[in-house]
This record gives sequence, structure tokens and C-alpha cells, in this order.
Amino acid sequence: MRIGWKQVAIAGVAAAIMGFAFAWSGIMGIGARSGHWAVTDWFLHWTMKNSVRTASLGTEPPPLDNPEMLKLGAGHYEQGCAFCHGSPAQARSQVVFNMLPVPPDLKLKVPEWTDAELFHIVQDGVRFTGMPAWPSEHREDEVWAMVAFLRQVPRMEAARYRQLAGLAETAEAGEQAELNCQSCHAQERLNGNSLIPNLAGQSEDYLRTSLLAYLKGERASGVMQAAVAGLGADDVGMLARFYSAMEHKPLNAAGTNPRGADIEAGRQLAIKGRSQDRIPACLSCHDRQDANPAYPRLSGQSAPYLAQQLRLFREDHRGGTAFRHLMVPAAKNLTDRDVENLSAYFASETR
Ligand code: HEC
Ligand code: HEC
Ligand code: HEC
Repeated sequence: MRIGWKQVAIAGVAAAIMGFAFAWSGIMGIGARSGHWAVTDWFLHWTMKNSVRTASLGTEPPPLDNPEMLKLGAGHYEQGCAFCHGSPAQARSQVVFNMLPVPPDLKLKVPEWTDAELFHIVQDGVRFTGMPAWPSEHREDEVWAMVAFLRQVPRMEAARYRQLAGLAETAEAGEQAELNCQSCHAQERLNGNSLIPNLAGQSEDYLRTSLLAYLKGERASGVMQAAVAGLGADDVGMLARFYSAMEHKPLNAAGTNPRGADIEAGRQLAIKGRSQDRIPACLSCHDRQDANPAYPRLSGQSAPYLAQQLRLFREDHRGGTAFRHLMVPAAKNLTDRDVENLSAYFASETR
């Protein structure tokens, strides 16, 4: 018999109806308890591997040997990943063994992936598995810090992990909120190369409004949005007071300038701006006696942090408080060289 398009169409419709009927019948289990058939398991993981491999084509990893990336990665890992995957200091929570698929022990899995592949898994998550996407888009810098950390996990001792993640050996319940922040922000853990900002002595207004911006999703950072989740208005006020009352010490007191930026050119640009490129004088808003308390202090902050924020403002991906619209045009026409020079200048200022 000849099979014409009519027969094919009828067979297609019949198959679709049978599929719906099967799903409607409720015979198909969607429970997580019984697990997948081995072939389903194999097929899903194979599909995921292929998808990650394709997504990572052409992704060029930045240098991952910066120890500051490990602190940022470990601090976020402890809050955002250890519950599911376990950490060098702690086994996986019992609860996750009832998930389907069970979140794997990353010590064993990380060596199977390239840096670019890890980047795409952490950035995009894995559909239908519980593996979440990074909370904010456009924060590749944060995801790369996580990849740098993951690469070290297979060889990491518990003590080294605790030290990187800033975990105290014991903590009183009342101190918990501060400790959660201090694990990353304690001034003595930071230095002139830090990717984590120094909050000590920062304006209370700016700290409070910035925390609210993370809470409302108006400032994009997977790391900080996870850290503030669950804070109430009282906590936000308390934490802003706690940090602004701390004595500010410049992170770069030794004046190190590892990337060889031109600090003097940065100073001139900060004082005068550059009118032909419509770059305003930074010091007309920042770091003056009569500054608006809603504007942040920049002096003594680490250069890599300042540079990253300027790049985010330049692309208009930074977000921030209600005053953020003042910074976007100020950063718009900065060249990469300007960004390096300005950051090195503000980092070297001890005011
Ligand atoms: C709610 C639980 C959960 C959380 C939280 C979670 N993951 Fe996952 N993750 C999973 C599951 C489940 C898989 C397995 C996906 C699969 O098999 O396709 C996975 C897979 C992975 C993989 C690939 C490993 C492999 O070979 O299958 C990496 C890498 C990873 N996660 C890193 C992270 C990082 C980094 C974080 C924190 C930012 C994180 N995960 C947070 C559940 C979680
Ligand atoms: C895992 C490390 C980590 C933890 C834990 C953490 N932070 Fe942060 N924090 C960061 C990083 C990284 C940034 C920069 C984020 C960005 O690019 O927007 C940041 C930024 C901030 C800023 C904005 C500073 C500025 O100059 O704009 C404030 C305020 C802040 N954190 C307060 C807190 C408070 C309060 C807590 C505790 C509830 C906390 N952080 C916990 C790493 C952390
Ligand atoms: C018109 C006032 C104004 C001018 C001029 C200005 N800024 Fe800003 N800047 C701000 C405000 C307001 C913020 C806080 C944005 C927010 O709400 O998060 C800010 C934030 C920043 C931050 C982020 C600090 C942090 O802790 O995250 C950096 C870095 C910065 N400015 C650098 C500069 C540089 C460099 C220049 C000169 C090219 C400059 N600014 C010019 C008002 C200004």
C-alpha cells in the first residue's frame, strides 16, 4: 500500500492524542523517589553534556590564578552551593539525597569539565534538575571567580576551605548576621587586590540604600543578592551602622600598583574630567568634605573592585540606588586605560 501524507498526518495526530491520554491518565510517575530508569538517566546526562559543550564553544577563560577569586568563590559557595553539593568542610545535607537527580559531590565531577564548561553550567544552571542559574545576568566576573574556586575543590583541605570562606570555628546566634557579612567583608581579610569592597567607614546612607538595592534586585550581583536574601529592614539599618562606624583603613596603603597604571593621569582626570569626552570631574561628587551622604567614598578602596564597578556602569549593567543615573553618563566614555588609571588613583588615596 502507498503511504500518502494523509496517513502520515492521521498517525501523527493519533500519536499526539495517545501522548496526552497517557499524561492525563496519571499513570506516569513524576515523583522523585523511585529514580529514573538507567537509560533515561544516561540520556539526560548525555543531553546535558552535549548542550554544555556547545554553549562553551568560543568561550575564552580569563586568567584564573588570582587568589582573591578563591575568597569570593568560597564565600559564595558556602552560602549558595554547599547545601546541595557539600564542601571540603561539610558533607551534603541529607535532604538532597531525595532529589532527582541527586546533586553530585563536585570533588569527583569538576575534573570532568573544562573551565569554559564549568562557567556555562554555573552561569546558566541545568534545567529540570534543581541546579540553579546564577542569580544575576552580566556578572561573568563573579561566575569566573566561582570557576577558579571549583577548580581547586578536588584538592582542597577542610582547613583551607574554612579559611578562604571566612568561617569562624564557633559563632553565637546573635552575632550571626554580622558574621555572615564579615566572612567576606572583614577589613583584615582584604587587601589592595580584593574583589570584595571595603565597607569600613563608608557612608551609612550609601550602605543602607545599596543593601536595599540588592534586596529589591535593583543592583545585580549573584553574590550579594544571595547574601542579603532574608534580611529585614532592621537588619539592613543595623548592618549599615555597624560598617559605617568602623574605622576606615586604606586597603592599598603600601601604594602597590601591580598593573602599572598611571596614577598621576588618574588624579588629573579625577580633578578636572575631560570635557571633549563629556567626562565630569569625579571629585565634584566623590570624596569631598561636603559630599552628598548618598554618594560612596572611593579613596582607599581596592583598584580591581573600583575598576569592575566602572566597567559595569559603562555598560549600564551596574544598577544601584536611586542616584545611579548620575554615574552611568560619567562612566560612559571612559576608555579601558582611564578605568585602570582612575582606579589606581583612588586606591592609592589615603584621605
Ligand atoms: C538546589 C540544589 C543545588 C544548588 C543550590 C546548586 N546545585 Fe549544582 N547541581 C545540582 C544538581 C541536581 C546537579 C546535577 C545536574 C545534572 O546531573 O544534570 C548539579 C550540577 C552541578 C555541576 C555539574 C556537575 C556534574 O558533572 O553533573 C556543577 C559544576 C555545579 N552543579 C556547581 C554548582 C555551584 C557552583 C553552585 C552554587 C553557585 C551550585 N551548583 C548550586 C543542584 C544544585
Ligand atoms: C560571599 C562574599 C560576601 C558576603 C558573604 C557578603 N558580601 Fe557584601 N559584597 C561582596 C561583593 C563581591 C560585593 C561587590 C558586589 C557588586 O559587584 O555589586 C559586595 C558588595 C557589598 C556592598 C556594596 C558596597 C559598595 O561599595 O557599593 C554592601 C553594602 C555589602 N556588600 C554589604 C554586605 C552585608 C551587610 C553582608 C551580610 C549580610 C554582606 N555584604 C555579605 C561579597 C560579600
Ligand atoms: C554627579 C555625581 C557623580 C560624578 C561626577 C561621579 N560619580 Fe561616581 N558615583 C556617584 C553616585 C551617586 C554613585 C553611587 C551609585 C549607586 O547608587 O550605587 C557613584 C558610584 C561610583 C562608584 C562605585 C563605588 C562603589 O563602592 O561601588 C565608582 C567606582 C565611581 N562612582 C567612580 C567615579 C569616577 C571614577 C568618576 C569620574 C569619572 C565618578 N564616579 C563621577 C556620583 C558621581
